[in-house]
Amino acid sequence: MESIDWKNLPFGYLKTDYNIRCQFKDGKWGSLEVSSSEYFNIHIAATGLHYGQEVFEGLKAYRGKDNKIRLFRCRDNAQRMFDSGSYIQMAAPPVDLFVEAVQKAVKLNERFVPPYESGATLYVRPLLIGTGAQVGVKPADEYLFVVFTTPVGPYFKTGFKPLDVMITRNSDRAAPLGTGHVKVGGNYAAGLTAGVAAQQLGYASCLYLDAKEKKYIDECGPANFFGIKNNTYITPDSKSILPSITNRSLMTLAQDLGIKVERRPIEVPELETFEEAGACGTAAVITPIKKIFDPETNKVYDYGSEAGPVSVKLYNLLRAIQYGDAEDTHGWITFVE
Ligand code: PLP
Ligand code: COI
Repeated sequence: MESIDWKNLPFGYLKTDYNIRCQFKDGKWGSLEVSSSEYFNIHIAATGLHYGQEVFEGLKAYRGKDNKIRLFRCRDNAQRMFDSGSYIQMAAPPVDLFVEAVQKAVKLNERFVPPYESGATLYVRPLLIGTGAQVGVKPADEYLFVVFTTPVGPYFKTGFKPLDVMITRNSDRAAPLGTGHVKVGGNYAAGLTAGVAAQQLGYASCLYLDAKEKKYIDECGPANFFGIKNNTYITPDSKSILPSITNRSLMTLAQDLGIKVERRPIEVPELETFEEAGACGTAAVITPIKKIFDPETNKVYDYGSEAGPVSVKLYNLLRAIQYGDAEDTHGWITFVE
């Protein structure tokens, strides 16, 4: 194998050996197929191309000190893909089929699971698309489920170093009763302009507000948002954000550590009162926030250039569980054997 510089991997696509595919046809799922091609043929009238019948997931495989490979909360990603697909009228793989496909994809690409302590992981990307042809706006009757893998470094270049984000007020990634709570590709399309605009101004990401009132914090690019004050972990309660598995895990770990947890709407001015702020997700892990810029008021909320103590504690515990360095007391780990 060409040698990979594990320590300097970007969050990008690198070809691995195999991907897994499964077709839904005639009302049922077929068997898992192994492919070494990075391409598939698709009908020109597939609903995935025209009407946005496309959902995806993201999870990671971690190599421990014991050399074992662990998946983190894989069944939760499976359930979320099922919920996302069902929400837009797709046939979605049952949880067990999803887990089996992920296990198989990781096992077959085992040599791409980065070494322990390299800072890199094997990112797993399950994808579900409508492949059946329709011209009228209707759900497809055929679907393709694909799982591919790619070794990745940190999503945000700074890794665990705090970064700057910017509040977005002139566009929405999801409507109040829309698809923000499910992982459909269209949400990411809707957010591209705001993301690019923030990056052009030197910010790592945009921070979305609720679409209806522009009063509350929603989420931070491809990650959930949290703030810390008075030994309390505070994260938005919103119907238009993705229910992050990382965020859910951090809420549980915070409680384990004796930190209070509040899930409730966060009004923009409350940003002033936080001692720490951060973004969390599979790709982002915990990415601490240094500054939040609000273009409407020109206000800058500053949390300092070093990660705060609560973020550090949560980050270390989450990573320790994912890599097998701390006991998996919540049953979150599945081994790839
Ligand atoms: N929010 C959005 C919009 C995302 O794309 C992601 C990534 O999946 C998250 C939040 C974080 O979710 P999770 O922790 O399940 O990866
Ligand atoms: C993830 O955190 O897995 C994501 O899906 C984020 C992004 C790369 C879309």
